Amino acid sequence: MKIKSIGVLTSGGDAPGMNAAIRAVTRAAIYEGWRVFGIYRGWEGLIMGDIKEFTSSSVSNTIQRGGTILKTARSEEFRKPEGRAKAFENIKKFGLDALVVIGGNGSLAGAQILASEYDIPVIGLPGTIDNDLYGTDSTIGYDTALNTIMECVDKIRDTANSHDRIFFVEVMGRDAGFLTQNSAIAAGAEAAIIPEDQTDIDQLADFIGRGIRKSKNSSIVLVSEKDGGAMHYAERVRQEYPEYNVKVSILGHLQRGGSPTAYDRILASRLGVASIEALKEGQRNIMVGIKNDQIVYVPFSRAIKMDKPIDKELINVLSILSI
Ligand code: F6P
Repeated sequence: MKIKSIGVLTSGGDAPGMNAAIRAVTRAAIYEGWRVFGIYRGWEGLIMGDIKEFTSSSVSNTIQRGGTILKTARSEEFRKPEGRAKAFENIKKFGLDALVVIGGNGSLAGAQILASEYDIPVIGLPGTIDNDLYGTDSTIGYDTALNTIMECVDKIRDTANSHDRIFFVEVMGRDAGFLTQNSAIAAGAEAAIIPEDQTDIDQLADFIGRGIRKSKNSSIVLVSEKDGGAMHYAERVRQEYPEYNVKVSILGHLQRGGSPTAYDRILASRLGVASIEALKEGQRNIMVGIKNDQIVYVPFSRAIKMDKPIDKELINVLSILSI
């Protein structure tokens, strides 16, 4: 079927660069002569029919803005078949021939289910700060969040040093440790505690000792939010080593905000244009990603289900550089 009209939505946690992706999808589709409809609040908006036609100027002055102009949500109703049936009714009502879905794991899982139940081509774009989608080297928002965390840790280091304190800094990422591991390298932290690698109490002592040994009298350990996060490890250290002055800093949602980096803007722009190319080629039910700086198509099943491993080399680099 020849595509004449598409819908675009953002779903799940917002990520810096989503606006650049919406802009690219919108303008690349209009360039093809297609109509573009912005769907508000993700799957929720598709169910409710909260949908408006976009022009090229709808996305003006957005490339530099964090968050998502389309808003986003985590939809419970879309998990149910009745919710998806309502969504499909609106796809028909607004005459949408295809969808572009920008989001993380859960959002692309939703896209996969919809595409398996109804005859509608869906293209996914990886939009999440977590970088946990298989088949793409980076996700939209990851680089910005990494830079935000690095800047925060730089600031924490000033006060940690001044007070001779040990800081456990909690980083987002859900089940994945990419943000934690790489921001630890970028900020010169003593260690990273990530879900992909076990950490016991003896290792903790070693992590902290690394900082103390370097005559800094302070240590910074980055901790992924999973399994109790920074509080859990800080408590353990307080009990085992009461001589240390331990503090916790949970970075929280500030990691999701801010103007996207050049890397994220360019990535989002390339992936957005590529999503329209993919639809033109007749592709459906794939995520468009980037591998070795080349655009790749990854079937939803692989992008969502396969575990994306942390390169052991990164773990090695941090441990060598924190002696
Ligand atoms: O998936 C992005 C993310 O920020 C995760 O890193 C985090 O675990 C989660 O979303 C937080 O979700 P919410 O904003 O709904 O609290």
